[in-house]
Amino acid sequence: MSDIIKIKEEYISKLNQDIDLNQVIQIKTELFGKNGKISNEFKKMGSIPVVAKKKFASDLNEIKDEIQNLISKKIQEIEIQEINSKIKNEKVDVTLPERSFNKGKIHPVSQVIDEISSIFSEIGFNVEEGPDIENEYYNFSALNTPDNHPARDMHDTFYLDKKKEFLLRTHTSPVQVRTMLKGKPPFKFIAPGRTYRSDSDQTHSPMFHQVEGLHIDKNLNMGHLKGCLNYFIKEFFEVNKINMRFRPSHFPFTEPSAEVDIGYEIKDGKIVIGEGDKWLEILGCGMVHPNVLKNVKVDTLKYQGYAFGIGIDRLAMLKYGINDLRAFFETDYRWLNHFGFDPLDVPSSYRGLSR
Ligand code: DAH
Repeated sequence: MSDIIKIKEEYISKLNQDIDLNQVIQIKTELFGKNGKISNEFKKMGSIPVVAKKKFASDLNEIKDEIQNLISKKIQEIEIQEINSKIKNEKVDVTLPERSFNKGKIHPVSQVIDEISSIFSEIGFNVEEGPDIENEYYNFSALNTPDNHPARDMHDTFYLDKKKEFLLRTHTSPVQVRTMLKGKPPFKFIAPGRTYRSDSDQTHSPMFHQVEGLHIDKNLNMGHLKGCLNYFIKEFFEVNKINMRFRPSHFPFTEPSAEVDIGYEIKDGKIVIGEGDKWLEILGCGMVHPNVLKNVKVDTLKYQGYAFGIGIDRLAMLKYGINDLRAFFETDYRWLNHFGFDPLDVPSSYRGLSR
């Protein structure tokens, strides 16, 4: 039997066995690779006597075609087999019980920060941020707070070093300084975030949240401050009318300064904002002190404006009927499940949701 017939028989029988794709490819290289058996037969062509050459060439080509066809068929077969077994194994059993899963909730504080940001952005306020770890200058000195001010006391402030250079910011007001140093007036932004004070009881937590507001421009006066806060409170509590009271107060970084109370009454055991003759303090505010503006190189003869600082947790408690502030930060899953929000919730009326 000639060499090529032997090769043909050997490999046809190999290809007819139950082999995998790798083995088929191996066979292909063994036959048709650079030094493959069939390739080598073709190389012999030149040394074959002319009389035998024609038959040899036609036999060889026939064998080549036959084996190549067989290889392609085999590859196709294996691929179809693979697809079929995949389909069989990946069948979905719709009768299986579902796997349990937990859906996350949005914390009421995050929800309220989003609400506040969207209300103020409607009237042109940007949102700015500052670090939780502040230095003494931005937190106090630049805000016109004298060295002997009680807020600087160790009882109140968490200092991070003996020299009292670094601290956990006690309010969001340092973001006023940082943001004004970064740019040029006019400024109009809010800055929500975490704040820290050495205080802990049912209505105070060592970490809490504030939102700062600052608006500096030409010709701003206290009327703008009142209008802005009135708009915000009405939007936030979703009421058409609000009783507001500006009580004279003192903050080192504003002059004049005021604290704002809003009117409320208790109806059926619930707080109703906007009506009634009881007062609830909700924020501090004032016209920015010229010393603060000088510290950030703003020309006080051209520019002035107002600032305010609001306790976010307090607003969340009021709007969503939550009594104990400490529960906010206990990370109790059941609590969060009850008071938390779904991502697509659109809270529509305060102290309750229309879902
Ligand atoms: N930083 C003050 C505080 O934590 C709140 C405050 C009052 C902020 C008046 C202001 C402001 O911007 O103008 O008690």
